Amino acid sequence: MQKVGVIPGDGIGPEVIKEARRVLDSVTESKSIALEFEEFPLGAGHYLKTGEVLAEETLQRLSRKDAILLGAMGDPRVKPGILEKGVLLRLRFHFDQYVNLRPVKLYEGVPSPLADNHRKIDIQFVRENTEDFYVGLGARVKSGISNTSLSLIRRAYEAKFDVGVDLKDEQELAFQIGVITKHGAKRIMDFAFQLAKKNGIDLVTSVDKANVLTEMYGLWREACEEASARHGIAKEFQYVDAVALHMVRDPERFKLLVAPNLFGDILTDLGAALQGGLGLAPSANINPSGVSMFEPVHGSAPDIAGKGMANPVGAILSSALMLDTLGHKAAADEIESAVKEVLRSGKHRTADMGGKTSTSKMTDEILKHLAHR
Ligand code: NAD
Ligand code: IPM
Ligand code: MN
Repeated sequence: MQKVGVIPGDGIGPEVIKEARRVLDSVTESKSIALEFEEFPLGAGHYLKTGEVLAEETLQRLSRKDAILLGAMGDPRVKPGILEKGVLLRLRFHFDQYVNLRPVKLYEGVPSPLADNHRKIDIQFVRENTEDFYVGLGARVKSGISNTSLSLIRRAYEAKFDVGVDLKDEQELAFQIGVITKHGAKRIMDFAFQLAKKNGIDLVTSVDKANVLTEMYGLWREACEEASARHGIAKEFQYVDAVALHMVRDPERFKLLVAPNLFGDILTDLGAALQGGLGLAPSANINPSGVSMFEPVHGSAPDIAGKGMANPVGAILSSALMLDTLGHKAAADEIESAVKEVLRSGKHRTADMGGKTSTSKMTDEILKHLAHR
């Protein structure tokens, strides 16, 4: 029996997770895969009712799961960051899910915003998930002379930053510190190059801004060089601005992109648009030797929440990534094939894809196309 912690979360999170569960139930039943689900009511509702964001005890309960399936975090009633950092990032960091794998695939029959719709877009997007400007170090300084002490405590190291500021004639200053470690860069590069090898990919494209943020991304580049030599697979360096350009003009040139956390966040929304919409994109937050967490790339979409309009495919494909990671590749493939068939027909499209199909109807169609049906 494998145990899955389910965090439906906010906005459309619960709507798409419900659909993913329907697909999971069907596939696992037919294949006699024993999964046990436990729901955790985290998110805006829980926070507004109790004042609690994420209890230590909840982390402990989640640590006993084999995987976590999450919908989305974030609600207009709550100040930005409280839930996103307090739940989502906290989980990624706590479970050291240092890989954020976000495959960008344009399936047949899906309208993409690119002029030529029949592009063969298939990019393994590997986003570093625990460092960079996401580490949460920063402050706003409002008075003349001040000293701010910030610390970053990680398993392998502790970093303390004492920042002295004299505002002089300035009224206010805000700063945020990014961190890349050798260990952090090495392990994401190793994952990227191993994935390239597994998929027969002969070139890894590393994304950075080493021409401006020279320290952080200088270290990032060195780690990439070393991993390329270690794994015997070629690498190229590209600046993030140029990658954005090429992703739109010539996405086929990329097979595997490896990016630092922030650039990876931005570029994977761009990738989602290329593959036909944010509602289609899945993701896996992976700790290869720990608890991994699976969630669609999109957020809580408050603008369409409660309307039955959300595209459930991103969540459904995320649950397929979960099954694959849990060792059920055939079941994962069955889900992806069913999704592909429904999309290929072009008959069933949710509003984000320019259609009128509802959230639950989209799932009904996917269920019909599962191989065992
Ligand atoms: P968003 O991803 O929620 O929505 C962006 C746009 O895409 C919206 O127009 C939305 O309607 C549309 N969209 C998103 N998912 C869709 C789906 N499945 N089907 C159809 N349309 C879909 O991003 P946002 O509006 O910038 O953020 C909303 C909230 O979500 C914020 O609180 C933000 O912090 C949070 N957020 C959370 C996550 C996450 O939990 N992983 C990711 C991104 C944003
Ligand atoms: C994502 C989201 C998160 C991120 C936010 C909500 C913290 O945008 O999963 O892409 O930036 O990683
Ligand atoms: Mn994002």
